[in-house]
Amino acid sequence: MAIYNDKVIDHFTNPHNVGEFENPDGEGTYGSPVCGDMMKISIMVEDGVITDARFKTFGCGSAIASSSVATDMIIGKTVEEALKVTNGDVLDELGGLPPIKIHCSVLADHAIKSAIYDYAQRHGKTYKGLEGFDPHADEEDTHHGCDMETAVDEMVAEVKAGRK
Ligand code: FES
Repeated sequence: MAIYNDKVIDHFTNPHNVGEFENPDGEGTYGSPVCGDMMKISIMVEDGVITDARFKTFGCGSAIASSSVATDMIIGKTVEEALKVTNGDVLDELGGLPPIKIHCSVLADHAIKSAIYDYAQRHGKTYKGLEGFDPHADEEDTHHGCDMETAVDEMVAEVKAGRK
C-alpha cells in the first residue's frame, strides 16, 4: 500500500511557489523541534491581501508538499484569512499524511505565521490571529550551526533538478 497519496506525490515532485522574493513584504523561518529541518516562507501583500507567496525548505518531501499546498491556499487571501488557515486545513487539502509525518506540515503553518508576523512588524500592524504568537518558539535547539540560507538553496536546487 502506498504511504503517500497521489496529491502529496504530485506536490512533492512538482512543487508550487518554490523560491523567494527580492524584496518581500514579510519573511519567516521556522525550525522543527521534532526533526530540526527548516522552512522559509516569503509573502507579498497588497491592500491587506497576500498577492504571492514563496517557500524554501531544508525539510523532507512531506514538508515540500505541505508548503506547496499551504502557499497555494494563502495566495489571494487577506492576511486575516491566511492567519485562520490551520495545519489541519493544510492536511485536509493534501488528503492527509502518514502520522509520523504530520510534524512536517507544521513547518509550513508556523513559517507562514512567522512571515505574517514579520509583515506586521515592518508595517506597524496588529492582527488578532497573531496574539501570543512567538516566531522563535521551539526552534532554539534546531539550529545545527549550518548556514541555513546555503542549505536551503542547495535543497531547492536539488528539488528543481529532480534529485530529491
Ligand atoms: S522530517 Fe523534517 S520536515 Fe519532514
